[in-house]
Amino acid sequence: MPIVLGIETSCDETGVGIVADGVLLGDALATSMEEHARFGGVVPEIAARAHLHAAVDILEHGPLPARCVALIVSGGHTSLLLLGDLAHDPVVHLGDTVDDAAGEAFDKVARLLGLPYPGGPAIDWIARDGDPAAITFPRPMTGPHDPPYRFSFSGLKTAVARWVEQHRDRPVPVADIAASFQEAVADTLTRKALAACRDHHADTLLLVGGVAANSRVRALAEQRCRTAGVRLRVPSPRLCTDNGAMIATLGDLLAAATITPDPLDLSADPSAVLHGALLHGPR
Ligand code: KG4
Repeated sequence: MPIVLGIETSCDETGVGIVADGVLLGDALATSMEEHARFGGVVPEIAARAHLHAAVDILEHGPLPARCVALIVSGGHTSLLLLGDLAHDPVVHLGDTVDDAAGEAFDKVARLLGLPYPGGPAIDWIARDGDPAAITFPRPMTGPHDPPYRFSFSGLKTAVARWVEQHRDRPVPVADIAASFQEAVADTLTRKALAACRDHHADTLLLVGGVAANSRVRALAEQRCRTAGVRLRVPSPRLCTDNGAMIATLGDLLAAATITPDPLDLSADPSAVLHGALLHGPR
């Protein structure tokens, strides 16, 4: 049985994980998040990695069904994908964000409200004291003529900035703004994800990436999936952010499918478009 070491390196973190036969044997993470917090964000890189990592959920919840929809929501990505057999089938991109990623919007709005970096957990925390219905922020790209699976969060961030600007004569209701903004993001993400499941006859939704740790996104996804009869799979928050276990899980899947490894002179392409687990298709 092969034992797979996965290494994930990004602008801000390096993680390692060891997986054998779908079981996580160990993992560790080194982070420079404290240094980034001093600057209010990761400077200057926007992480351009593709989160095929969706595979990490297998560690906690077993093999994926033959067909499922994955919603990848992180600081660099907001994508809806249609997944089949991860080792062999191409990944179908149903839609991505046309501007800011969801996590990026959380980070920017947090900065606007004077909250610390990373902004997502800060907004999540303070929103607990706020009223999600206090301000009706737009649900971007959810009109009847909008592309159903594409996202746009830069206008929502601007709407928050404009609201703060228009009400600057009184103290900023940070908790209400955070809760209302978070509600708009959660509503938009889950509405589109459930539409993708319905349209593509997928009975499972996989929710992954840093923003999947958001309490309201998770709660609304759970509620809407239950109503629609869709099974929701969300890895635990620890596995939702940068880690090496997700790389090792994918390697483990490929090894189990007896895929021939790429040679060691394979070069890295940080802006590679995600089409599947294999660069060249099965050989
Ligand atoms: O998956 P991740 O670690 O990948 C990137 O490096 O992109 O995601 C990081 C993003 C950040 O934008 C962070 O603010 C967001 O995930 N995030 C959250 C929460 N925890 C992390 N956003 C909303 N609510 C959270 N609880």
